[in-house]
Amino acid sequence: MLRSGPLLMKIKTPVSVRHAGLVRLAHRVNPPLVAALRHPWVESIVRLSAVEDALTAVHPLLSLTQVRARVVRIIDETASTKTFVLQPNALWLGAQAGQFVRVQMEIAGRRAERAYSLSSRPGSRHLAITVKRQDQGLVSRHLHDAVKVGDVLTISQALGEFSMPADLPGKILLLSAGSGITPVMAMLRDLQGRRYPGDVVFLHGCHAPGDLIFAEQLATIAGEFAELSLVVHYSATEGRLTPQMLALEVPDLAQRSTWMCGPTGFMDAMTAYCEQQGFDAPMFSERFVGVPLLPSTAPGTPVQVSMFESGSTFATQGTEPLLVQAERAGLSPKHGCRIGICRSCQYVKTSGTVENLQTGELSSTPNELIRLCISTARSDVVLALVNAANPKPPFDCDWRTP
Ligand SMILES: Cc1cc2nc3c(=O)[nH]c(=O)nc-3n(C[C@H](O)[C@H](O)[C@H](O)COP(=O)(O)OP(=O)(O)OC[C@H]3O[C@@H](n4cnc5c(N)ncnc54)[C@H](O)[C@@H]3O)c2cc1C
Ligand code: FES
Repeated sequence: MLRSGPLLMKIKTPVSVRHAGLVRLAHRVNPPLVAALRHPWVESIVRLSAVEDALTAVHPLLSLTQVRARVVRIIDETASTKTFVLQPNALWLGAQAGQFVRVQMEIAGRRAERAYSLSSRPGSRHLAITVKRQDQGLVSRHLHDAVKVGDVLTISQALGEFSMPADLPGKILLLSAGSGITPVMAMLRDLQGRRYPGDVVFLHGCHAPGDLIFAEQLATIAGEFAELSLVVHYSATEGRLTPQMLALEVPDLAQRSTWMCGPTGFMDAMTAYCEQQGFDAPMFSERFVGVPLLPSTAPGTPVQVSMFESGSTFATQGTEPLLVQAERAGLSPKHGCRIGICRSCQYVKTSGTVENLQTGELSSTPNELIRLCISTARSDVVLALVNAANPKPPFDCDWRTP
């Protein structure tokens, strides 16, 4: 028999269990519901976009298709960097440490979308993105200056291949500079959460103590996580962090699997050094800035692009990347950063010639992986999804990333 009062309170379903139940329900109900709403017969009566608008009017977090996340806390990390702690709706599928989300917003009537790495520990109830304000930047400035607690952001599911394997190596280096600390901070939190028994060095470079993002949390983790050696390099007093300094700080660098994120010059220097030294421990890297695209060398006649699995075909016009061309034709290929970094838009080109708009290189090799956001077609092209029939190379994230 149920007793009233405190006991009854205790046996009420906890919020986390109710939330998990809602998530399971949403994941079960949503896909068939969305498919039904996209059916031409149903669409002729009620459009999915109208249903979405009605749901948003009821509650801004409600959506059948979009991950929306409420800002529950904003943390001033440094004078120019803030962390936005987010509570996602039930459609969020989770992330691996190192992955990023695309934040979509409308600013002064203009739709904008930017990638931000998650700095939170995977599996935690709240997500976090940590954003450095760029003085002239559109989205980072808007996030800093206009977004407040209670606002709802639209985000993508987690994307990107910068992540750690389930089987961790015995020695790890997490190396970062500036705002590049965000994805490796998520990795550090993940290692601590997984009770990583190996040996991890976290080496971060920034200008001065006032610029150290996550200063308090790093100090806390360093106090709790015995396997961690935390090294912070301040360039204002110690000079720029060079590969030679890195080698002095981390004498067993050659044996450490490294995950690295930071400014382009920093990562290029570290990569070149490790290549010259012939280190063969793997190094994985993430960049926030893409290589600018070159104009196509030969803006040609329209060519046909066939998407193998869906049977869709479209004709290209001009020389824009295949991702843009496919979207213009009404298709929605999976993508992430749109600047050639994250590999979310990789397809297998089974035949045809493409031009890499970052390098100008032409390639007609069959069955090669291409990134739609930086490739343009130079002949008729057939594309296939990367799947079991067309697997990716097993370990394609290497010194030459992106
Ligand atoms: C995978 C990935 C993960 C990322 N993770 C993070 C992260 O965790 N944290 C983070 O802070 N960033 C991250 N970024 C970078 C982020 O996506 C944005 O590129 C960044 O916030 C700048 O966006 P913005 O809209 O503010 O600047 P934009 O408007 O895109 O401008 C880009 C740059 O041009 C400059 N600029 C723009 N207009 C002018 C002008 N008129 N005159 C002079 N200069 C100008 C801006 O100052 C800025 O430096 C990531 C990027 C990628 C690809
Ligand atoms: S969308 Fe990120 S590599 Fe193309």
